[in-house]
Amino acid sequence: MKRLRISIAGFGTVGQGLAELLYNRCDLLQQEYNLDIILAGVANARSGFIYREDGLDIPALLQLAAERRPLTVHPGVTHWESLLEGLRATGADILVEATPTNLHNAEPGISHIRAALSQGMHVVTANKGPGALAANELFALARQHGVQLRMESTVMAGTPVISAIREGMAGANVRALRGILNGTTNYILTAMAAGQSYAVALADAQDQGYAETDPTADVEGHDAVAKTLILAALVFGISLKPGDVVRQGITAITQQQVEQAIEQDKRIKLVASLHLLADDERKDKALEARVAPIALPLSDPLARVDRVMNALTISTDTLSDVTIIGPGAGRIATGQGLLADVIACAREQV
Ligand SMILES: NC(=O)c1ccc[n+]([C@@H]2O[C@H](COP(=O)([O-])OP(=O)(O)OC[C@H]3O[C@@H](n4cnc5c(N)ncnc54)[C@H](OP(=O)(O)O)[C@@H]3O)[C@@H](O)[C@H]2O)c1
Repeated sequence: MKRLRISIAGFGTVGQGLAELLYNRCDLLQQEYNLDIILAGVANARSGFIYREDGLDIPALLQLAAERRPLTVHPGVTHWESLLEGLRATGADILVEATPTNLHNAEPGISHIRAALSQGMHVVTANKGPGALAANELFALARQHGVQLRMESTVMAGTPVISAIREGMAGANVRALRGILNGTTNYILTAMAAGQSYAVALADAQDQGYAETDPTADVEGHDAVAKTLILAALVFGISLKPGDVVRQGITAITQQQVEQAIEQDKRIKLVASLHLLADDERKDKALEARVAPIALPLSDPLARVDRVMNALTISTDTLSDVTIIGPGAGRIATGQGLLADVIACAREQV
């Protein structure tokens, strides 16, 4: 049995989702994967970093988080004010990074990831900031230290797209990607197609917990841009900046435009796309990157992806078009993406 110690940075929705899965799937992990995974460290903003070498009591930890009590009251833990101090003192086999996404400078996640990779830990992350702004730098750092950096759950949560492309479609040439990568805007556009105004649909999305109080990152397309940057780096090996992606959100979409699309058997969707313009020579590779609302014909599988569902169509030279549809957010759905990445790290770390 291989024993793996994990520390989680960020113990909110996603960090707790992974902890719950590690607890509930303990037998499966042992029997099917020969893995004894120990959650040894956890950090959040309020409590700093707590660590117990022989493992934290996950139900007790989830209870503390649910009651918003300090994690430091967990019995038998050592405590540091910050994750960075705690990491330096403890180390573990894998750091799971699930602090908030920051698309300005990727902090605090990027510092957590750099520190963990530099001290020889694998990193698995759901945080979009580091992947969107510095994927190539971080992958180079991982290679330098002989460890893995995986980020399946940054795009479409636990629905496997990155591993499906990189591992499942190994050897194929990917020509283009087109996807619905933001659940909030898809929910709003679906409600508008059913007759609601933008304002009512947005308020409904906020009531349902699908949209933030400040919905800018979603409705102006910034979140979809971040995922587009991650896909550009991971699938095409091309490092784009946010300004390289032509971006248009959904705030200017009118009910009239939505109705007109329906009359033409089309649906307006916020589509993120990456098209390879030339790939004869690797150095000449260029990508066209866009996030914009498009009226898609109903013959396009993306046109029928509704509510908070996400989807990605992958165009390759060997498979033509493959479309993957699935959840793009959620406590357990995102935790699943992290769990799959943790298992992948364990499998390759012989
Ligand atoms: N939610 C989803 O469905 C989903 C899907 C895909 C990707 N993601 C990404 O996953 C990440 C986590 O999302 P979430 O929904 O779990 O967010 P969340 O519920 O807001 O949780 C964020 C956690 O990070 C902690 N934190 C903030 N700053 C920290 C720091 N400097 N050091 C240590 N911990 C810190 C917070 O501490 P406190 O608890 O003390 O505030 C909180 O526990 C984000 O980057 C998000 O974009 C989320």
